[in-house]
Amino acid sequence: MISTRTRILTDPVEAAGLLREGKLVAFPTETVYGLGADATNPLAVERVYRAKGRPGDNPLIVHLAGAEQIEEVAAEVPEAASWLLEAFAPGPITVIVPRGPSIVPAVSAGLETVGVRVPAHPVARAVLKAAGIPVAAPSANRSGRPSGTTWQAVLADLDGRIDGLLMGERPEVGIESTVVDCSGPVPAVLRTGGISLEQLRDVLPGIMARGERLDASPGTRHPHYAPTARVTVVDAPRPRDGAAYIGLQQPEPGYVITEVVPDLESYARTLYAFFRKADSVGVKQIDCERPPASGIGVALRDRVVRAEAASDR
Ligand code: TXA
Ligand code: MG
Repeated sequence: MISTRTRILTDPVEAAGLLREGKLVAFPTETVYGLGADATNPLAVERVYRAKGRPGDNPLIVHLAGAEQIEEVAAEVPEAASWLLEAFAPGPITVIVPRGPSIVPAVSAGLETVGVRVPAHPVARAVLKAAGIPVAAPSANRSGRPSGTTWQAVLADLDGRIDGLLMGERPEVGIESTVVDCSGPVPAVLRTGGISLEQLRDVLPGIMARGERLDASPGTRHPHYAPTARVTVVDAPRPRDGAAYIGLQQPEPGYVITEVVPDLESYARTLYAFFRKADSVGVKQIDCERPPASGIGVALRDRVVRAEAASDR
């Protein structure tokens, strides 16, 4: 047994009770762990920003047990949002819609819109259903660090800063949800993620890709996803003493730790935990094979390129 200041929970109903009392509880979703708080409670929402050390201009996503509950948190539900939820919820999609009065403004960092997501992970669904309230949940990590994809990562960043951690199966997807702004005339991808552009275009052929519109999610302007080690995106492994490598190609001997993944899905699932593992053994350099720019590879490439940019600062 490890000793923690944050309570380790196994019962979603107990976790839901804490959330209803205004407490902070982390829980697994199919993308990454979320750090949950009652989205209708200003003090609870304020504590989320403090626990993470998150800039106050970066809005939180509201998590719901079912897509039909969007009516309770949105001022209006644009057609594009309904179609996306119908196609991909529960799952790794977040729709940005006009914010309704039940959601405290701090959730949206003062914006008139709110991000809404219905996670697919059975433990997330159970806690949301038992809580019966909209739950604001950013990724469960200290701001700027890689998102938590294991309970150990969540504790490493947040032990003692949050009230509870609900255990569950490890996130399947491993990178965050795709964020689509549905509040304007043309839906636009603000953050790439677990649902690919190809999948989105099947539902909304006119959707704008990430970058086609000049703005992005506020969160994508902040340094993000960065381990302590320097990250370099490489086209092929180039073994170096003392360095770590993750990618699909098998490297020659030389790296101290390697993670050779069979496919892009496994790459996404392991990336953040690999960053943290490299940091924990004191590696100073991480080489990441450049993912192809299609399917989940687009979101994965965004994460590794941004980790590289963060190490160049
Ligand atoms: O997969 C996920 O989305 C995970 C799990 C826990 O659900 N959550 C997550 O939350 O990644 P967070 O807070 O780490 O990232 C939320 C992203 C940020 O880039 C934020 O700027 C954007 O969503 N966002 C949230 N509300 C927004 C809004 N109203 N307008 C524009 N962007 C918004
Ligand atoms: Mg985050």
